Amino acid sequence: MLKINELKKYYSGKRVLITGHTGFKGSYMCVLLKYLGAKVYGYALKPEKGSLYELLKKGAKLQHRRDEAYEPLVTGEVFADIRDIKKLTAFVKKVKPDYVLHMAAQPLVLLGYDEPRYTYEVNVMGTVNLLEAIRKGEFHEPQNRKGEFYEPISILNVTTDKVYENNDLSNYAFKEKDKLCGRDPYANSKSCSELATYAYEKSFFADKNIYRVSTARAGNVIGGGDLNANRIIPDCYRSIKNKKEMLIRNPKSIRPYQFVLEPLILYLNIMALQKKDKKFEGNYNIGPDKKACLTTEVLTKKFFEAWSALDFGHHQSIRIAKLSKSLHESKFLRLDNSLIKKVFKYKEIFNMNKTMEYTAKVYYDMLKNNNIYRSIIEIIEELD
Ligand SMILES: NC(=O)c1ccc[n+]([C@@H]2O[C@H](COP(=O)([O-])OP(=O)(O)OC[C@H]3O[C@@H](n4cnc5c(N)ncnc54)[C@H](O)[C@@H]3O)[C@@H](O)[C@H]2O)c1
Repeated sequence: MLKINELKKYYSGKRVLITGHTGFKGSYMCVLLKYLGAKVYGYALKPEKGSLYELLKKGAKLQHRRDEAYEPLVTGEVFADIRDIKKLTAFVKKVKPDYVLHMAAQPLVLLGYDEPRYTYEVNVMGTVNLLEAIRKGEFHEPQNRKGEFYEPISILNVTTDKVYENNDLSNYAFKEKDKLCGRDPYANSKSCSELATYAYEKSFFADKNIYRVSTARAGNVIGGGDLNANRIIPDCYRSIKNKKEMLIRNPKSIRPYQFVLEPLILYLNIMALQKKDKKFEGNYNIGPDKKACLTTEVLTKKFFEAWSALDFGHHQSIRIAKLSKSLHESKFLRLDNSLIKKVFKYKEIFNMNKTMEYTAKVYYDMLKNNNIYRSIIEIIEELD
């Protein structure tokens, strides 16, 4: 497994195209890649005012005043819809990326129930559009006078742990070979995104040494600054900010939780190593060991404990809420992470205590209007 200082060798000066760079994972990834010296090119919808992304962009600028070698958070970006194949293709051609990380998605289970068609359009056709833009790009042209190609373009499609057919069998940990068949529209759209990637890989990318493609099936991530609706930790933060009681739905649901930088560092490992050697291509589960699978209720309590340590004496009241409509959400979900451990010699980076400490700290700094770009850089520096 490549550590932060080794990743610099792979990413410094490289062109990384990220779809969904304005989202939660995308924002952290921009900070991480900037730290590694990469040039980030983002394609996503325009972020909302006051979003994590905007705060980080401003924070990076503020930091610049004291920093000689300034590069903006992203080198180039387009705010457009992933369903717009013309704009997407033009962007891919212009950027000519060394790496492509696909994270743009409609990522919410509940919104998937309300807007299934939109969810499929973005998550399935969005993936197809990106793969098509890469296929139609000029990467198949020899790139020097001798007719040789440079290193292959390295592509990673980020899906989810929900891609598997899930019968709520407790204690079962999904393996990469298990059947892909998410049950709700969001989960299913991500299964389809996996299948589309497979078809493109086998049909267009496999025999050429120009492309390397993997998918990553990550579980729930947490980290300070996520403001997405209907996610447990952002809900906890909002309850503190708005001085309201915290309502927990599905308190007994068990999920694997990881600190957001954990899968991001693995994504960078997959993209870096597969670029050098085809043997690293694959479809990887990215999830924590069994001990990090917590119930929603325990997770909530741990977050408030970590918050109290920063904000002495803070007490947050919690209530278990009854859902008005009973939409299916899997009660149990765990991934078998032995493949990624074996292939990448991966060992957990952030334990649950560190995860909570860092998550609460970034939210705390957000609430206090401190520079959260700096807060995240400090976490990365501790790893370097
Ligand atoms: N956050 C998690 O816990 C989690 C867990 C498993 C998988 N994932 C996956 O990771 C990826 C990133 O998740 P996130 O938490 O950062 O989500 P997010 O909602 O914070 O960000 C989504 C990003 O996609 C972009 N996007 C959405 N619709 C788009 C469209 N029509 N056209 C162009 N861009 C569009 C948004 O602008 C944003 O940049 C997603 O693919 C998601 O399914 C996330």
